[in-house]
Amino acid sequence: MTRNFLDIDELDPARLTRILDQAAAGRADRSMIPQVLAGLGAAAVFEKPSARTRTSFEMAVVALGGAPVILQAAEVQMGTRESPADVARTLACYCAVIAARVFDHESLIEMAAAVDVPIVNLLSDRAHPLQALADLLTLRDHFGSLEGRRLAYIGDGNNVVASLAYAAALSGLELVVASPSGYELPEAVLDRARNLGGTVEQVTDPYDAARGADALYTDVWTSMGQEAEHAARLAAFAGYMVDDALLAAADDGALFLHCLPAHRGEEVSASVIDGPASVVWEQAANRLHAARALLADLLEEA
Ligand code: CP
Ligand code: NVA
Repeated sequence: MTRNFLDIDELDPARLTRILDQAAAGRADRSMIPQVLAGLGAAAVFEKPSARTRTSFEMAVVALGGAPVILQAAEVQMGTRESPADVARTLACYCAVIAARVFDHESLIEMAAAVDVPIVNLLSDRAHPLQALADLLTLRDHFGSLEGRRLAYIGDGNNVVASLAYAAALSGLELVVASPSGYELPEAVLDRARNLGGTVEQVTDPYDAARGADALYTDVWTSMGQEAEHAARLAAFAGYMVDDALLAAADDGALFLHCLPAHRGEEVSASVIDGPASVVWEQAANRLHAARALLADLLEEA
């Protein structure tokens, strides 16, 4: 069993369920939180901005008894001042776990190959697995079992939905993704999700995705690092906003999810994200519980 967490597909269904159960247990009763980091450090390197991931990671480490050590891009200059492997070797001298938010997923792979301590992905160009864990926890809170529930993701076939596709596959959630031509989920991700036993469908029309859905999910159209493409992306995604009409096409009582940060009036209307269907602040809160349970599971395996 892998000791790293570069993406959700490194878990199996039983381990995923165990992590979600532990996240919910620690949330309900702090005495259930194992002190696996007592007296130990946990490093997190950020090559890109973060509010939720950084704060939830720090507080997760504190809850597990450890000391978070946060390093911003300018401090480590991964790839220029020092290679990702040497950054990992250095941090492993002092810390029991290393996490990183990186531009290039390959940096995480190089870090994982260089050290024995667990490496955790805090978002890369390919994946955002801690977000997907929090998303499953949020959906489970509302639906109980995820098996056979239908989740529609509307928008860019990016890092967030790639991890969500694996999370869905491992939890029995059906996923349908609606994206404009040229912005679909990569074929390799669709193949991998299906190989994991997932039901994942890629469509073009957001209404085809929304019909029959128990929840709608969207993310920004321009991810961090893609700022130069902003104007082209705004044009390409016209018609993909999750608004009241699209939400009305989903099942009665359908939920709205967004990993945040959100752009009201672009990928989602204010009426939806600030309306009664929205569970985005539950997702944000669950980032802490998901991160804490994941770290505990990795460190107990170690
Ligand atoms: N959802 C999420 O990862 O938020 P941050 O970029 O603020 O960490
Ligand atoms: N897809 C977005 C997610 C931000 C949490 C990005 O990578 O910028």
